[in-house]
Amino acid sequence: MTDAIAARIAELSQQLHSHIYHYHVRSQPLITDAEYDRLMQELLALEAAHPQYRRADSPTQRVGSDLSGDFPKLRHPAPILSLANAFDEADLLAWQERNLRLLPAGSQLSYVLQPKLDGLSIVITYENGSLARAATRGNGETGDDVSANVKTIRSLPLRIPVDPSSGAAPARLVVRGEILFHKADFLALNEEQAAQGLPAYINARNTASGSLKQKDSRETAKRKLSAYMYAIVDSDGLQLASEWETLDTLRWLGFPVISDAQRFASLGEARAALPGWEARRDSLPYEIDGLVLKVDDLALARELGVVGKDPRGAIAYKFPAEEATTTLLGLTIGVGRTGKLTPTAQLEPVFIGGVTVSSASLHNYDQVKALDIRLGDRVIVKRSGDVIPYVIGPVIAARGGGETAIRPPDCCPFCQSKLVQPDGAVDWFCENANCPERVARSLEFFVSRGAMDIEGMGEKTIETLIEAQLIADIADIFTLQAEPLLALEGFAEKKVENLLRSISLAKARPFAQVLTSLGIDGVGSTVAALLTDNFASLQDLLDTADAIRAAEADFVQVVQPICEAANSADEDAQRQLARLRQPMTNLAPQYMDAADLEQRMARRLKALHLPASEVRRISQALAALIAVSRSLHSIEGLGPVLVVNIVGYFSAAHNRTVLAKMQAAGVTMRAEAKSLAGDALSGKTFVLTGTMSQPRGELKALIEANGGKVTSSVSKRTDYVVAGESPGSKVEKAAKLGLPILDEAALRELLNG
Ligand code: IVH
Repeated sequence: MTDAIAARIAELSQQLHSHIYHYHVRSQPLITDAEYDRLMQELLALEAAHPQYRRADSPTQRVGSDLSGDFPKLRHPAPILSLANAFDEADLLAWQERNLRLLPAGSQLSYVLQPKLDGLSIVITYENGSLARAATRGNGETGDDVSANVKTIRSLPLRIPVDPSSGAAPARLVVRGEILFHKADFLALNEEQAAQGLPAYINARNTASGSLKQKDSRETAKRKLSAYMYAIVDSDGLQLASEWETLDTLRWLGFPVISDAQRFASLGEARAALPGWEARRDSLPYEIDGLVLKVDDLALARELGVVGKDPRGAIAYKFPAEEATTTLLGLTIGVGRTGKLTPTAQLEPVFIGGVTVSSASLHNYDQVKALDIRLGDRVIVKRSGDVIPYVIGPVIAARGGGETAIRPPDCCPFCQSKLVQPDGAVDWFCENANCPERVARSLEFFVSRGAMDIEGMGEKTIETLIEAQLIADIADIFTLQAEPLLALEGFAEKKVENLLRSISLAKARPFAQVLTSLGIDGVGSTVAALLTDNFASLQDLLDTADAIRAAEADFVQVVQPICEAANSADEDAQRQLARLRQPMTNLAPQYMDAADLEQRMARRLKALHLPASEVRRISQALAALIAVSRSLHSIEGLGPVLVVNIVGYFSAAHNRTVLAKMQAAGVTMRAEAKSLAGDALSGKTFVLTGTMSQPRGELKALIEANGGKVTSSVSKRTDYVVAGESPGSKVEKAAKLGLPILDEAALRELLNG
């Protein structure tokens, strides 16, 4: 019996060592966090019951580490502790029992309950009120010095207290907290990635960690990281009695502190709050993987002490896992309205966080290849909140040898045309605009709520109309006649009448809504509004697309012989050639404002050793391309890849035919002229920063109603920066660029002419 226990302890230790290595060193976990926790719990329990088998090098004795070779190390002023886990209420009761046994008889424990943020731990030192250093948790004793990167996180104060009138900060203060992405910011980051044709980030926590560990802090600054502080590790002179007071102190000093912490007089009351938190989990602005329950009285918590690396006075209450391992049985392929192929994993059904999951997203084939996911693999699947379950990756260690590689098909499974992967894209596409699957999907999207919103035209109706050959594209909807419809089974007079009425109503939808409904890749309602703000009509868009295509063709004609003749192995030369081949993404937007285009190009293309006359021809062709593409590239919010998509859409012959049919049928193809209150700000671009006396949206509307434009970032093209109270770095940037900085009163003067 005891032999079996010793063997199990050895086996668990060996497995956990291997998992720790794969997680921390290889960054390629083989099992889910939940499974890791289970193994660790089993080992902890066995070692507690049979301490004679606990080895000094047991994984339970080891503190995880996020140290990397790239950063100088900082020693923490006190050990940066971790937390023991509780998985259910019984664990919480047992925890309290143990604690009460260690305290004088009759001790009363009250608690603070707060979310366990799923980010990465950070330790920040302030000296004489200034942010002096910041370090990752590391191994708990020393961490990576990420000071420069942490300083880019806007919500963290560089000086405390933020409001100097609120008191004085201690001469030295070391705080601890968590760095993370708000869900909305992580989604936005992935939208940006998609707009640039780059792969999506899969996991918010790892991306936050990667963002913080950039060597160049300007890269960190580009990511919208957030931070929340929850503990004071060390200070000169602060006398705090409770966790609750700690949170209050952090708050008045000006730190971001989660607002939903709760204080309870007993464990019973805290337990009663648990279900509410689980229910609210998905609606919180950040990811949490559980709750942290802390003994409120700091004197009692100190008395309880520390076991291993965990303080006895606090515990993590983990939510049920959102990840599980299962087998990848097969793949189904979908083709969307843009022709994009979406591989979906068919899984052996698995129960995750209360739901049975049998299919999951695989994102795209590049991702499948990058992660080396094979048919028959054991895969880790994540399901969280409203997002579609997705495959995180394979469990390589579980391979038996019978797994087979996954490759994108050669042909579209619905129309058999050859599939293409555009340059730089991660997705594969069916390019056949008449592919029946694409047509059905684009029709469904076109009529849906949020798009043209044509009532009475559900999936079933669309299918019937396609089968009866009454519609073959979205434009055909607008020329439907009563008679052939009445001839269809199930189409009674009333139904046909209603359908035709809603179609006729849809013809009058605003132009921006029509553009949104077309389903152009990357063009949702926001981008469509940007387009109609800048282009008065469909004709304007078509003309611009034509002009760009022509200028692009001219440019290609100039550079083609150069690209063909060049056989330089020089890396820089190769890079420049690659840029020349894609002027719309790699040259026009970057050189749009260059005053000395020819000199800039000469420097840029130095590695190609071109005669001056060639450089001049290239520059002239580029200038011509810039002249016609500026109207798109200068719209803030349209990335170069999106512009290419838009131009591609409006220059495709098939789309032009469909759009012409729609216009002929009376669908709105012109933007409504905006009624302006005045034109005092005509043509001027504004950036608003800081807290204003009225909501920003209202000021923005006021500026726009008077002919001005409001953008979010300060650049040479900004005419005025309007600064409210406690403005941010935008004002510094504006001052550097020598731009006029107005207060609200000056803005009003400007408005009044
Ligand atoms: S208290 C001794 N509070 O969870 C104090 N930790 O599993 C220990 N965490 O390493 C930390 N949210 O990075 C605390 N509200 C919170 C937290 C929190 C997230 C992290 C922290 C810690 C890990 C322990």
